[in-house]
Amino acid sequence: MFETECFVTPADTEQALRSDVARGLSRMPKEVPPKWFYDEKGSELFDEITRLDEYYPTRCERAILTKYAEDMAKSSGAVTLMELGAGSGDKTRILLDALIGEGTLQSYVPVDVSRDFLLDSAAKIAADYPELRIHAVAADHDRHLALLPDGERRLIAFLGSTIGNMAPQERARFLGGLRGIMGPDNSLLLGIDLVKDRSRLVRAYDDVRGVTAAFNLNLLSVLNRELGADFDPMKFRHVAVWDDVHERIEMRLRSTCDQTVVLRDLGLKIPFAAAEEMRTEISSKFRRPGVQRELAAAGLELAHWWGDLDGDYAVCLARPV
Ligand code: SAH
Ligand code: AVI
Repeated sequence: MFETECFVTPADTEQALRSDVARGLSRMPKEVPPKWFYDEKGSELFDEITRLDEYYPTRCERAILTKYAEDMAKSSGAVTLMELGAGSGDKTRILLDALIGEGTLQSYVPVDVSRDFLLDSAAKIAADYPELRIHAVAADHDRHLALLPDGERRLIAFLGSTIGNMAPQERARFLGGLRGIMGPDNSLLLGIDLVKDRSRLVRAYDDVRGVTAAFNLNLLSVLNRELGADFDPMKFRHVAVWDDVHERIEMRLRSTCDQTVVLRDLGLKIPFAAAEEMRTEISSKFRRPGVQRELAAAGLELAHWWGDLDGDYAVCLARPV
């Protein structure tokens, strides 16, 4: 059975984009939140990133899921698997197979803000898993957590280390919000990219083929299309830097010259100085004690930690305290 539900209406999405961009471009340094990367093109480019040699997180996470999916299935006993920021749901199939093997799973609820991409991906999963109820929900997990469908022994998966794209305060709010919707029999499965050698990190976010650069610059096309802006992508350059203090990669777009960008629908003219940078994403990298501390602060207890031998990546399971 395949059902869909939508909490992100075009009007509501437009309103959220307008307020994020108006706020983000009026402050210094300028900033646009990463959720706006994922139009149809952005979602496809992200998928291409996941296949790059340099982009290790997807490969590492897939290997951990393959090795430990049975343990994960046993530990959660999930009847419902709800996945936030599901994207293509490719790796999730490993979990679905294990949970079906365990004999508990009845429904899969992929949730994503990128509606059309979600519906395409969920339809493919529905075709391949006719025994499951697939309930695709187009929603923004920053705003719609409380509206998401409940479920018996629900396992909430948040993979790909997408949690790293939130600032520490946003993470605390998000984890607290998740705790608030979790029943005592629910659990949370988190994909976590770990701190590692700086040069590997930078290469993962600045690949030689320029796919990540195209992903970053695609944000300007989103703003041009959705807000009647006149960003010239040729006048911005992709930048990826490692911030040693906050232990995170920052992706930025650097203006190559002095220029003024008009955002017609917002009635804004935004000046960019030559070499000025606008932050488009943070991608925090974690250490186990920090993860444990953040989970505990949200009322969640770390129950399992499945890592790879190189200490590159981990998937952990947490439960309400
Ligand atoms: N989980 C997948 C995809 C990660 S890409 C993987 O591990 O490969 C990040 C995904 O999160 C994208 O599909 C994007 O559309 C979605 N996303 C980003 N911000 C979101 C938000 N606030 N609410 C819901 N989905 C979001
Ligand atoms: C979705 N998210 C976890 C990716 C990351 O690694 O932070 C997005 C991404 N940005 C550049 N490459 C991949």
